[in-house]
Amino acid sequence: MKKDFLSITDLSREEYDDILTLAARLKRQRYAGVPHPLLAGKTLAMIFEKASTRTRISFDVGMYDLGGYALYLNSRDTQLGRGETIADTARVMSRYVHGVIMRTFQHETITEFAKYSSVPVINALSDKEHPCQIMADSLTLKEKFGDLQDLKIAWIGDGNNVCNSLIMASVQTGMEIAVATPKGYEPDPQAVQFARDNGGKIVTYDDPTKAVADAHAIYTDTWISMGEEDIKDMKLKDFNGFCLDMPLLKRAAPDAIVLHCLPAHRGEEITDEVLDSMQSGVWDQAENRLHAQKAVLVRLMGQNI
Ligand code: CP
Ligand code: NVA
Repeated sequence: MKKDFLSITDLSREEYDDILTLAARLKRQRYAGVPHPLLAGKTLAMIFEKASTRTRISFDVGMYDLGGYALYLNSRDTQLGRGETIADTARVMSRYVHGVIMRTFQHETITEFAKYSSVPVINALSDKEHPCQIMADSLTLKEKFGDLQDLKIAWIGDGNNVCNSLIMASVQTGMEIAVATPKGYEPDPQAVQFARDNGGKIVTYDDPTKAVADAHAIYTDTWISMGEEDIKDMKLKDFNGFCLDMPLLKRAAPDAIVLHCLPAHRGEEITDEVLDSMQSGVWDQAENRLHAQKAVLVRLMGQNI
């Protein structure tokens, strides 16, 4: 049976821990220059409907590190862009490649593809979730604090795709997620309900100062996700007061780190001073996309090791 990674909820607590452990090992091996061709002879197709810097490069380089090959496909250039169905595309691509990553506007595009694909499918960002990002974030937090259990993570800003995955990861990690959004921009209620029903600790506010109190990490993301460019002016007004600046950071724990999935919109959701501060964990976080995703790829496309 192939295993997909469409949602952070697709991983059990054991699988989640195992991926983080493997990611740390692969990171050490890469730094030491120890070859780890665990996916030799395997090919990954990467379908992107939207722009990407980190996800595209880290999956591409990750497959190279693992001895495999990655194939970038802009969905506009395939027959998908001319109306070939998602199901037929999935059936055909499964005959060529050993795994597929997809970045789409609609989450349902990925679930539909996975339904007809005989090889593992990984969500590389949809309107609902960004599970690969959260694995990298978890690795970053584990490196800094040793253990994820009972860490308090404050999410400030838009209750978006990244926020939804973070919230649901509370179930596997034991982290408390304190979310502060303007009214009308709350995270997906189903994500919050899922987390609460399964032992996750989620608190929601509309006041950032409440969410960040004693937090171990403050996490933010752009207010204007890809595809929302036409509502930019309205959102910039609605998010007034939600910028992660130094006075807000000072309310967190003294050793708190700042997380941002990037790309940052400096001067909007985060100030230069915070992003470039000693407390910024964003560059490690971005690097860890590579190591965490390599572990995901090995577990989904490789043999047991
Ligand atoms: N964080 C993230 O997914 O970045 P990209 O859009 O550059 O891939
Ligand atoms: N929320 C952002 C994340 C980008 C990595 C978006 O969907 O555009």
